[in-house]
Amino acid sequence: MENGTPDLRLAGVDVERPSVARVYDYYLGGNANWAIDREFGARVLQKFPLLRNIAIANRLYLNRLVRHLTKLGIRQFLDVGAGMPTVGNTHQIADELAVDLGRTPDAHVVYVDNEPIAVAHAEILLENEGNTDRHGVIHADLREPGDLWRRAMATGLLDPDEPIALLLIAVLHVHQPGPDGVTDIGPKSVARLRDRLPVGSYLGMSHITDEGVPPDVGENLVELKRMYDTSSSSNAIWRSHKDIEAMLGDFEVLEPGWTWLTEWHPEETGPTVRPIAFPTPNHAVGWAGVGRKPA
Ligand SMILES: C[S@@+](CC[C@H](N)C(=O)[O-])C[C@H]1O[C@@H](n2cnc3c(N)ncnc32)[C@H](O)[C@@H]1O
Repeated sequence: MENGTPDLRLAGVDVERPSVARVYDYYLGGNANWAIDREFGARVLQKFPLLRNIAIANRLYLNRLVRHLTKLGIRQFLDVGAGMPTVGNTHQIADELAVDLGRTPDAHVVYVDNEPIAVAHAEILLENEGNTDRHGVIHADLREPGDLWRRAMATGLLDPDEPIALLLIAVLHVHQPGPDGVTDIGPKSVARLRDRLPVGSYLGMSHITDEGVPPDVGENLVELKRMYDTSSSSNAIWRSHKDIEAMLGDFEVLEPGWTWLTEWHPEETGPTVRPIAFPTPNHAVGWAGVGRKPA
């Protein structure tokens, strides 16, 4: 049809409600969002202005995480729920660091998202400035971990016998309804992906928590969840530290353990980014940690 909307619907795009992926892109100042997303995002930021800096702090954690894992020798990344390709994507961070260290960039990255528009943008980005021998993107769903894994490996970009860094950054506080449409199967899906990773692989996560945050921020999180649950494409789920940490299973937690977003290896901050300051670390509301799969 003329405005293209029916085609988007056929492609599985939710055109009726703000999408979690596109609204997040709006918070970050990206251009892969629509009027419906901007209107919702603006309402959210009016109630909870700190959320923009929280989103930026989350991206900066991703930046430090990829740098840290690259220095630990990781050359393969499976970035699930990667979102819109705003600046500072996993392949760009790994390649920039390699150049800084005087090495030829050699990291292999597969991005995964279940939001078709995010995947389409990632495809264009990678065609324009990626390296298709090392970088790829697939449209797959975390809630079908077997299918996701099979298709990620079918790209031929990742070697399933060599360590892989599985990144689940700001994904699991998006409610993951199972077949009954209600029960959250996020932790179960993560466990199935953990099982498939070879020994020596890493799992890096960040997740919003309402535990241990300042009281006024806690009130904002209640309202934020209400807004997402009533108006957006997905419900929100804030977990306790214990429930977030449990998703690493038997993986060995790397130093410095689980921390607030800004506290995880601040010394890894890359030369091209400007850190975000919060009144106190728990204003960042994101709980972050990384584990390594033992032998
Ligand atoms: C808040 S964004 C985070 C983006 C990126 N990881 C970051 O931290 O900058 C959450 C992303 O997870 C994606 N997502 C949510 N549920 C998913 C699922 N079941 N399978 C794949 N992607 C999912 C959303 O589409 C969105 O792009």
